[in-house]
Amino acid sequence: MQISKDIRSHYERIGGEEKIRALVQRFYQLMDELPEAYGVRKMHPPSLKGAEGKLFKFLSGWMGGPQLFVQEYGHPMLRQRHMPFTISRKERDEWLLCMGQAIDDVVVDDEQLRNELKVAFIKVADFMRNQSEPD
Ligand code: HEM
Repeated sequence: MQISKDIRSHYERIGGEEKIRALVQRFYQLMDELPEAYGVRKMHPPSLKGAEGKLFKFLSGWMGGPQLFVQEYGHPMLRQRHMPFTISRKERDEWLLCMGQAIDDVVVDDEQLRNELKVAFIKVADFMRNQSEPD
């Protein structure tokens, strides 16, 4: 049974720029701290500030807000931009571990939004895999 569908953008529902900044900050903090995420952490440069700024700009547009990433860097071509990195299930899952936890920590008052965001991130992170692996 469909109860009700919130038709506002994820950008609006999460709470706009401030909340997306908080999400991205928490995400990279977790990547920096969780031993289980060490594999993806070491793919990144020592400072995560550059990645943090870019992911914030990307997510602003991806969630239906201002297209900050596109305005500054052009078409995201996200999969192509990740080609220099080896991304298999392991890296995907480490990335998603941090994002899932960041969502739980930052999107505290809206379970439906938490679930929708997790489903959406699982899809986009899976799309970033670039290694062929047996099923
Ligand atoms: C699936 C596992 C993923 C891994 C291992 C990964 C890894 C990386 C790495 C190592 C960088 C370079 C950071 C730097 O040079 O500072 C990067 C950049 C970036 N990632 Fe990911 N990423 C993953 C998934 C994602 C997903 C799902 C998104 C979006 C929802 C995303 C968005 C970005 C963006 C916007 C950049 C900046 C691109 C640029 O302009 O260079 N990544 N990623």
